[in-house]
Amino acid sequence: MRFAKTLSPIAVAVGALLAVAPLASRAQSVVKVGFAAPLSGPNANYGKDLENGVKMALEDAKAQGVKINGQPVSFELVAEDDQADPRVGVQVAQKLVDEGVSVVVGHFNSGTTIPASDLYEKAGLPDIDPAATNPVISGRGFKNIFMVISSDAQNAGTAGAYAVTTTKAKRIAVIDDRTAFGQGEADEFVKAVKAHGGEIIDREYTTNQATDFKTQLTNIKSKNPDLIFVGALNPQAAGIMKQMSQLGIKAQYVGGGGVKDVDFIKLAGDVSEGAMAWEYGRPLDSTPVGAKFAERFKQKYGDDVLSYAPFGYDAAWAAIKAMQAANSTKPGDYRAKLQNISFDGITGHIEYNANGSLKNGSSTVYQVKNGQWVTVKTVSGL
Ligand code: ALA
Repeated sequence: MRFAKTLSPIAVAVGALLAVAPLASRAQSVVKVGFAAPLSGPNANYGKDLENGVKMALEDAKAQGVKINGQPVSFELVAEDDQADPRVGVQVAQKLVDEGVSVVVGHFNSGTTIPASDLYEKAGLPDIDPAATNPVISGRGFKNIFMVISSDAQNAGTAGAYAVTTTKAKRIAVIDDRTAFGQGEADEFVKAVKAHGGEIIDREYTTNQATDFKTQLTNIKSKNPDLIFVGALNPQAAGIMKQMSQLGIKAQYVGGGGVKDVDFIKLAGDVSEGAMAWEYGRPLDSTPVGAKFAERFKQKYGDDVLSYAPFGYDAAWAAIKAMQAANSTKPGDYRAKLQNISFDGITGHIEYNANGSLKNGSSTVYQVKNGQWVTVKTVSGL
């Protein structure tokens, strides 16, 4: 008894220590951040770049000791490869829902994002879209879709207006890959050309698997175009550029989103000289935060930013900031904060319209000069 009495304060102290230690480590709760994009196949380069942007945001959050509801948290990336295939996109979306992730950043392609976001909406799981741009994505009245990138109504729409009013093209032809993205942006381009009094002399289609575009380009050539808008990602967009040159087509090449990057120049080679392309947002190196991001990204991954990594970074931070503001990682708690988020990201100011589309987006047109993409003009307030 005496013994026990003497020791009891020590026992209490030891007991308290033992109790506190596991509690402290338990307090570091894990927040699972879902991510889906093509990590294999012909669009893998875009997906990897995007994934690295998301990773960088989660590592920065860790380095800054981000707390939610006063508790330290660690973010765990749960990355899925959707292979740019709508069917696989739905399967991996279901996997992320089942895994209990707190948010999804993704997908990359409109063709996967549209059906996958149906699933996220049903599950009440916020999906922050860093790259997919078909206007349908924010056009369905969903409560769980938030775009940190402008849509093709904005980007390709601006391209269509510019082709008529600034380039003053008179005979415009269009070719697209018939995906939700390529066809969607070509539709927006055509709408804007017509709205500005321009003429579409031909519209041709290919697929996102095709490598030979000669039939369509021969049709286009026979109609004597002065500008050709291409709605496709690099594997096809660069192939079309090459074959335009082989067929001696002199019309101005204009790409939509996903074309202005080093891969296009690598794939198309010297004939890419003079090509123009419209890309969402402002040039990365046009702001000090963008230039710093580019430098840090290169140091970390050994590669330059390819295209959408900064949007992946901003998308992840939108989620983190909303969770912090709500003191919760539960969608039902933080969704309202996400809807009202307002912060300056790497890509620009992030705020959403009621439908989850990006408020005040911008688009930039670039042109290949001396083997490099140079900025021609940024159009803001879209
Ligand atoms: N912006 C492209 C898409 O929507 C990547 O598919």
